[in-house]
Amino acid sequence: MSKSHSVWVSRPLFPEVLAHLAEYVDVRVETTERKHTPSELREKLADVDGAIVALSDRIDGDVIAGNRRLRVVSNLAVGYNNFDVPALTAAGILATNTPDVLNETTADYAWALLLAAARRVSSAERWLRAGHWRGSMRFDDWLGVDVHGKTLGILGMGRIGQAIARRGYGFGMPVLYHNRSRLPEDIERECRATWVQKAELLRRADHLMLVLPYNAQNHHAVGAAELALMKPTAVLVNIARGGIIDDAALAVALREGRLAAAGLDVFEGEPVVHPALRECENAVLSPHIASASADTRRAMAQLAADNLLAALGYGPNAGHPPS
Ligand code: DGY
Repeated sequence: MSKSHSVWVSRPLFPEVLAHLAEYVDVRVETTERKHTPSELREKLADVDGAIVALSDRIDGDVIAGNRRLRVVSNLAVGYNNFDVPALTAAGILATNTPDVLNETTADYAWALLLAAARRVSSAERWLRAGHWRGSMRFDDWLGVDVHGKTLGILGMGRIGQAIARRGYGFGMPVLYHNRSRLPEDIERECRATWVQKAELLRRADHLMLVLPYNAQNHHAVGAAELALMKPTAVLVNIARGGIIDDAALAVALREGRLAAAGLDVFEGEPVVHPALRECENAVLSPHIASASADTRRAMAQLAADNLLAALGYGPNAGHPPS
């Protein structure tokens, strides 16, 4: 029987999540994973009440222009820089995201990148797989930089930044952070983190993690000038968004040894990665997978579905049983 609401899901999703959605609404799911053009998005959203979309789906004023039906767009991500929120608000369309469920998994991955970049794990593996490990190795080969006991810097201290900071204690690392607003004292105490100005953070951090949301103010928050303040032995990790780092400037700093290494999960213009960065042996690069553990991606999909259903009036308190 046809349901009262229809929704579009812009990519294949966990079957159990789709089945849960289908108890309430008619579901149209894309069967392949790809970036949709604005005109495809306009067409797909024209005759649905809600949509579950992902970061590569840019939902702006143009895409929703003249759409009288759409009530909710539910993002499969905590970051929502793919949404033009003022345009959605003006059109009366709710925008939702998936906070919290990915904090710990993303924090784990930030540490994975820090450790891999500091200890040269990716390039050592590439070297081994290429069959270069034949005779004995020089004692001073493959030297990395230490992580334990160093000062950890965190730029952007939301919930993921805090989860990263808490892990610093286990590595014996004092934590400095910069955030637009200082955290309440009890949270600073719990994270054992000290607020400093951004320039001081860049100068004092032995290793720096970027955990900022992306917006116009944070565009190239770390560019040539900021990189010049950092220690040449530092590792820079970005699990937040491309565009926060000026990738061209970073590639120059890495190539010239003005920074020891970088661990990058996000890129300006992804999925295209700046060619100069791809050339940097001292950069560990991954395809935006910081939240990609089986449990967390399932939880994100479930939350995105629940957000959408709640916005359409279904759910425990909405008084709408499945139709
Ligand atoms: C997010 O949720 O914003 C992540 O970047 C996507 O995994």
